[in-house]
Amino acid sequence: RHHLETELLGTGKHIVYAPTVDSTNSLAMKLAREGSEEGVVVLTDSQTAGKGRQGRRWVDIAGLNVLSSTVLRPLFPPYQLVMIASLAVVDTIADICNIQATIKWPNDILIGERKVAGILIETSHDHTGQLVAILGIGVNVNGHISHFVTEQPTLQAEPGLLKIATTLEEASGHVVSREMFIARLLYQIETRYLALQQEAQAYVNGPISRLIREQWRNQLSTLGRTVQVHQGSKLLSGVAEDVNDQGELLLRSHSGECISITWGDIE
Ligand code: BTN
Repeated sequence: RHHLETELLGTGKHIVYAPTVDSTNSLAMKLAREGSEEGVVVLTDSQTAGKGRQGRRWVDIAGLNVLSSTVLRPLFPPYQLVMIASLAVVDTIADICNIQATIKWPNDILIGERKVAGILIETSHDHTGQLVAILGIGVNVNGHISHFVTEQPTLQAEPGLLKIATTLEEASGHVVSREMFIARLLYQIETRYLALQQEAQAYVNGPISRLIREQWRNQLSTLGRTVQVHQGSKLLSGVAEDVNDQGELLLRSHSGECISITWGDIE
């Protein structure tokens, strides 16, 4: 707690820690539905059923990762939460490790071509009907992925893993303090979140939303590249030209058609 520089996230009684939990997102959602205040942060050392995007599992090695979920009640559309969360992770990695990470659309965090963090935002309504969003962030902080692959049977089952993932320790050559990382991350989320909350009361699309969208767009390593988009069994391919105001990916297909993509996996 003494590292915290926030005024809303994780302050006061707002940290819930359990050494192990099924999923911090599920626990945070349960607390939020029961009326938990915004700013509550759920942290754990290990998840038994960590959730990834699109129904996938998020596997961790106990004690080496940041696994956090924050209860928020945004007055702005959830796609802006995707943007502030990914920017917050990129800036925290720069602050703590001095490494320039990038964003793979919409919110995977990469160092080079390897994934170091993932974000899962789940939304619902509480008993009063108000929108609640659970912002779940998983960061591979310490350890070396090559060690995990030999030690973890679940990871061994994924042949591409060695090539696609990394940790902050692996990328920086130093062990990173999870406490300092979380404290900085919460600060990076909070500054943008509070600015957007304030703006949302006055404008629909004000200057802060535009600035955040521009910053997020500038960090997207996906743009300008030829990509394949997997949407379930459907496969689309083309050049990732740009993103629109809602953060959707604009894909120029090989036949010259422009398609806006709202979800999927990019390769
Ligand atoms: C992804 O890249 O697919 C998103 C991964 C999100 C993982 C985090 S870890 C903390 C929080 N709790 C979960 O069950 N998932 C998120």
